Amino acid sequence: MKERLQELQQEAIVKIDDSKDLKALNDVRVAYLGKKGPITEVLRGMGKLSAEERPVMGALANEVREAIASKIEEKQAALEAEEINRKLASETIDVTLPGRPVKVGTHHPLTSVIEEVEDLFLGMGYEVAEGPEVEQDYYNFEALNLPKGHPARDMQDTFYITEETLLRTHTSTVQARVMNGNEGKGPIKIICPGKVYRRDDDDATHSHQFMQIEGLVVDENIRMSDLKGTLEVFVKKMFGAEREIRLRPSFFPFTEPSVEVDVSCAKCGGKGCNVCKQTGWIEILGAGMVHPNVLEMAGYDSKKYRGFAFGIGVERIAMLKHGVDDIRHFYTNDARFLNQFKQV
Ligand code: FA5
Repeated sequence: MKERLQELQQEAIVKIDDSKDLKALNDVRVAYLGKKGPITEVLRGMGKLSAEERPVMGALANEVREAIASKIEEKQAALEAEEINRKLASETIDVTLPGRPVKVGTHHPLTSVIEEVEDLFLGMGYEVAEGPEVEQDYYNFEALNLPKGHPARDMQDTFYITEETLLRTHTSTVQARVMNGNEGKGPIKIICPGKVYRRDDDDATHSHQFMQIEGLVVDENIRMSDLKGTLEVFVKKMFGAEREIRLRPSFFPFTEPSVEVDVSCAKCGGKGCNVCKQTGWIEILGAGMVHPNVLEMAGYDSKKYRGFAFGIGVERIAMLKHGVDDIRHFYTNDARFLNQFKQV
């Protein structure tokens, strides 16, 4: 029995040494140390031994088991270390390889124009206000001197949601909201950029959804010349010192007097070309002195306070600035178009 146990130990050690991986090593463990293994088998014959021999053989069997188990442990540690080294070698990073370029996004040209206009007006002491795109009829029309049934409501064909709720047709809604919020007290100096919606047919210069930047200044002693001076600064900073502006009489129910503002054409310098339809001028915004009715409805004393307001078409500014000939380019998300506005 003693010889058989020593033989099994030798055999197991050779097989452990020959194990090429953890799976093969585990098979050896099961074969030699498992319940159905040869050592257990040998121990079953202990019954035939004398009382003196039994403890000696039992101790020897334990020694053999422990020797095999510790050899397996040793081999397992070696195999695991080998495995880690293999992995490390195969996953080595070559830091000298050139990197793959990451595609970096960029601001949409309309966002850039809005940010530029915001910076410009913030520099002149304005604050940025906001208002909802889904608006009440009251703020879009009534508070702006356009009661129900007023024919001038048709100037801006409206998407109605219910009889009293609509998609705002202009950012002038924020004029009404800010003035109302101030309850007739103190001066106001704000701009408000945002999306507006109209049932206009889309073409090269019109979109059913576009953006405006509203401006509103209310204080004592505000004059038309303040409006003109402000717009002149805006145009020259935005398009260059050589650009001129022209104020044409117009009509908006919420301003009196009202004007439409043209900028001298960048392409022909005012001589007349296809961009300016041979006029030398391009319309960019509507403006005027806040109508006394609008001030009074918002709680302002129109004898004490006066104001001016303007509504700039953002897409028209972007078209002029970048020489874009069709407003639809801003909304079709063609990467070839958008990539041209990458900031470097
Ligand atoms: C208004 O919306 C007035 N609320 C502007 C205003 C504000 C006047 C404050 C007085 C005081 P108008 O409908 O003209 O006005 O639009 C203003 C600007 O928005 C236009 O000059 C033009 O640049 C732009 N715009 C108008 N309709 C469209 C459209 N369908 N697509 C793109 N831009 C448009």
